[in-house]
Amino acid sequence: MADFLTDVATLRKQARLHMDQGPITEAYGADRERVIAVLNEVLATELVCVLRYKRHYYMAHGINSGPVAAEFLQHANEEQGHADIVAARIVQLQGEPDLNPDTLSTRSHAEYAHSTDLMEMIREDLVAERVAIASYQEIVRWLSTSDPTTRRMIEDILSVEEEHADDLLNLLQGLGEPVNPA
Ligand SMILES: [Fe+2]
Ligand SMILES: [Fe+2]
Repeated sequence: MADFLTDVATLRKQARLHMDQGPITEAYGADRERVIAVLNEVLATELVCVLRYKRHYYMAHGINSGPVAAEFLQHANEEQGHADIVAARIVQLQGEPDLNPDTLSTRSHAEYAHSTDLMEMIREDLVAERVAIASYQEIVRWLSTSDPTTRRMIEDILSVEEEHADDLLNLLQGLGEPVNPA
Protein backbone atom coordinates (compact mmCIF):
# COMPACT_ATOMS: atom_id res chain seq x y z
CA MET A 1 0.00 0.00 0.00
CA ALA A 2 1.37 3.44 -0.96
CA ASP A 3 1.94 6.07 1.73
CA PHE A 4 -0.87 8.53 2.45
CA LEU A 5 0.69 11.49 0.66
CA THR A 6 -0.80 14.81 1.69
CA ASP A 7 0.20 16.23 5.08
CA VAL A 8 -2.41 17.65 7.43
CA ALA A 9 -1.34 21.29 7.01
CA THR A 10 -1.69 21.06 3.20
CA LEU A 11 -5.08 19.32 3.42
CA ARG A 12 -6.38 22.04 5.76
CA LYS A 13 -4.99 24.84 3.59
CA GLN A 14 -6.41 23.42 0.35
CA ALA A 15 -9.86 22.96 1.89
CA ARG A 16 -10.04 26.75 2.39
CA LEU A 17 -9.34 27.45 -1.29
CA HIS A 18 -12.24 27.67 -3.76
CA MET A 19 -14.88 27.14 -1.08
CA ASP A 20 -17.49 28.28 -3.61
CA GLN A 21 -16.99 24.87 -5.25
CA GLY A 22 -18.63 23.12 -2.28
CA PRO A 23 -17.86 19.39 -2.44
CA ILE A 24 -15.40 19.80 -5.33
CA THR A 25 -11.89 19.95 -3.87
CA GLU A 26 -8.33 19.97 -5.18
CA ALA A 27 -8.50 16.17 -4.95
CA TYR A 28 -11.33 15.90 -7.52
CA GLY A 29 -9.67 13.82 -10.19
CA ALA A 30 -12.07 14.01 -13.14
CA ASP A 31 -12.81 16.59 -15.84
CA ARG A 32 -15.79 18.13 -14.06
CA GLU A 33 -17.30 19.80 -17.13
CA ARG A 34 -17.09 16.57 -19.11
CA VAL A 35 -18.62 14.56 -16.25
CA ILE A 36 -21.53 17.03 -16.07
CA ALA A 37 -22.03 16.74 -19.86
CA VAL A 38 -22.03 12.94 -19.71
CA LEU A 39 -24.41 12.96 -16.72
CA ASN A 40 -26.76 15.17 -18.73
CA GLU A 41 -26.78 12.47 -21.42
CA VAL A 42 -27.58 9.91 -18.72
CA LEU A 43 -30.35 12.21 -17.44
CA ALA A 44 -31.82 12.47 -20.96
CA THR A 45 -31.59 8.69 -21.34
CA GLU A 46 -33.45 8.09 -18.08
CA LEU A 47 -36.18 10.62 -18.93
CA VAL A 48 -36.75 9.15 -22.40
CA CYS A 49 -36.99 5.74 -20.71
CA VAL A 50 -39.60 7.14 -18.28
CA LEU A 51 -41.66 8.43 -21.23
CA ARG A 52 -41.31 5.21 -23.24
CA TYR A 53 -42.31 3.00 -20.28
CA LYS A 54 -45.24 5.30 -19.47
CA ARG A 55 -46.45 5.13 -23.06
CA HIS A 56 -46.13 1.34 -22.94
CA TYR A 57 -47.92 1.18 -19.57
CA TYR A 58 -50.91 3.13 -20.90
CA MET A 59 -50.92 1.37 -24.29
CA ALA A 60 -50.57 -2.20 -23.03
CA HIS A 61 -53.64 -4.23 -23.95
CA GLY A 62 -54.59 -7.82 -24.66
CA ILE A 63 -54.92 -10.98 -22.62
CA ASN A 64 -51.31 -10.99 -21.39
CA SER A 65 -51.13 -7.28 -20.68
CA GLY A 66 -51.82 -7.16 -16.90
CA PRO A 67 -48.48 -8.32 -15.44
CA VAL A 68 -46.58 -6.74 -18.36
CA ALA A 69 -48.19 -3.33 -17.74
CA ALA A 70 -47.35 -3.62 -14.04
CA GLU A 71 -43.71 -4.25 -15.00
CA PHE A 72 -43.73 -1.24 -17.37
CA LEU A 73 -45.04 1.00 -14.58
CA GLN A 74 -42.48 -0.24 -12.07
CA HIS A 75 -39.68 0.38 -14.55
CA ALA A 76 -41.02 3.88 -15.36
CA ASN A 77 -40.96 4.77 -11.67
CA GLU A 78 -37.45 3.39 -11.21
CA GLU A 79 -36.16 5.31 -14.25
CA GLN A 80 -37.69 8.49 -12.76
CA GLY A 81 -35.81 7.74 -9.53
CA HIS A 82 -32.58 7.42 -11.53
CA ALA A 83 -33.25 10.74 -13.29
CA ASP A 84 -33.72 12.45 -9.91
CA ILE A 85 -30.49 11.02 -8.48
CA VAL A 86 -28.52 12.01 -11.59
CA ALA A 87 -29.96 15.56 -11.63
CA ALA A 88 -29.02 15.98 -7.95
CA ARG A 89 -25.46 14.82 -8.65
CA ILE A 90 -25.14 17.29 -11.55
CA VAL A 91 -26.06 20.11 -9.16
CA GLN A 92 -23.55 18.82 -6.55
CA LEU A 93 -20.91 19.03 -9.27
CA GLN A 94 -21.90 22.70 -9.69
CA GLY A 95 -23.59 22.03 -13.03
CA GLU A 96 -27.14 22.47 -14.32
CA PRO A 97 -29.45 19.57 -15.19
CA ASP A 98 -30.62 19.93 -18.81
CA LEU A 99 -34.35 19.21 -18.85
CA ASN A 100 -35.03 20.94 -22.17
CA PRO A 101 -37.73 18.80 -23.84
CA ASP A 102 -36.76 20.08 -27.32
CA THR A 103 -33.46 18.19 -27.29
CA LEU A 104 -34.28 15.30 -24.95
CA SER A 105 -34.57 12.52 -27.52
CA THR A 106 -31.43 13.50 -29.45
CA ARG A 107 -29.34 13.68 -26.27
CA SER A 108 -30.63 10.36 -24.95
CA HIS A 109 -28.60 7.21 -25.60
CA ALA A 110 -31.74 5.05 -25.67
CA GLU A 111 -34.62 5.65 -28.09
CA TYR A 112 -38.30 6.39 -27.65
CA ALA A 113 -40.61 3.81 -29.32
CA HIS A 114 -44.15 4.06 -30.66
CA SER A 115 -45.21 0.44 -31.16
CA THR A 116 -48.76 -0.60 -30.26
CA ASP A 117 -47.88 -4.30 -30.19
CA LEU A 118 -47.24 -5.59 -26.66
CA MET A 119 -44.41 -7.95 -27.62
CA GLU A 120 -42.79 -5.25 -29.74
CA MET A 121 -42.97 -2.89 -26.74
CA ILE A 122 -41.15 -5.42 -24.56
CA ARG A 123 -38.49 -5.94 -27.25
CA GLU A 124 -37.99 -2.16 -27.68
CA ASP A 125 -37.64 -1.79 -23.92
CA LEU A 126 -35.08 -4.60 -23.84
CA VAL A 127 -33.08 -2.85 -26.60
CA ALA A 128 -33.19 0.43 -24.64
CA GLU A 129 -32.05 -1.28 -21.45
CA ARG A 130 -29.18 -2.92 -23.33
CA VAL A 131 -28.15 0.49 -24.74
CA ALA A 132 -28.19 1.96 -21.21
CA ILE A 133 -26.27 -1.02 -19.79
CA ALA A 134 -23.53 -0.72 -22.41
CA SER A 135 -23.17 3.04 -22.02
CA TYR A 136 -23.23 2.96 -18.19
CA GLN A 137 -20.60 0.21 -18.16
CA GLU A 138 -18.43 2.46 -20.30
CA ILE A 139 -19.01 5.43 -17.97
CA VAL A 140 -18.01 3.33 -14.93
CA ARG A 141 -14.76 2.30 -16.62
CA TRP A 142 -14.12 5.85 -17.84
CA LEU A 143 -14.57 7.37 -14.35
CA SER A 144 -12.45 4.65 -12.75
CA THR A 145 -11.12 6.22 -9.51
CA SER A 146 -11.31 9.86 -10.68
CA ASP A 147 -14.82 10.51 -9.25
CA PRO A 148 -15.77 7.61 -6.97
CA THR A 149 -19.13 9.11 -5.92
CA THR A 150 -20.38 9.51 -9.48
CA ARG A 151 -18.99 6.11 -10.43
CA ARG A 152 -20.78 4.43 -7.50
CA MET A 153 -24.03 6.17 -8.45
CA ILE A 154 -23.76 4.92 -12.04
CA GLU A 155 -22.85 1.43 -10.79
CA ASP A 156 -26.00 1.36 -8.64
CA ILE A 157 -28.15 2.51 -11.58
CA LEU A 158 -26.42 0.00 -13.87
CA SER A 159 -27.35 -2.89 -11.58
CA VAL A 160 -31.04 -1.87 -11.76
CA GLU A 161 -30.89 -1.60 -15.59
CA GLU A 162 -29.49 -5.14 -15.66
CA GLU A 163 -32.45 -6.28 -13.52
CA HIS A 164 -34.80 -4.49 -15.94
CA ALA A 165 -33.25 -6.23 -18.95
CA ASP A 166 -33.53 -9.57 -17.17
CA ASP A 167 -37.21 -8.87 -16.28
CA LEU A 168 -37.98 -8.09 -19.94
CA LEU A 169 -36.18 -11.18 -21.21
CA ASN A 170 -38.12 -13.31 -18.71
CA LEU A 171 -41.40 -11.72 -19.86
CA LEU A 172 -40.70 -12.59 -23.50
CA GLN A 173 -39.59 -16.11 -22.65
CA GLY A 174 -42.51 -16.63 -20.24
CA LEU A 175 -44.96 -15.59 -22.97
CA GLY A 176 -43.31 -18.00 -25.39
CA GLU A 177 -42.29 -15.14 -27.67
CA PRO A 178 -39.13 -15.05 -29.81
CA VAL A 179 -36.63 -12.70 -28.16
CA ASN A 180 -35.09 -11.42 -31.38
CA PRO A 181 -37.50 -9.72 -33.79
CA ALA A 182 -38.37 -11.72 -36.91
FE1 LIG B 1 -32.70 3.86 -15.28
FE1 LIG C 1 -34.11 0.47 -16.93
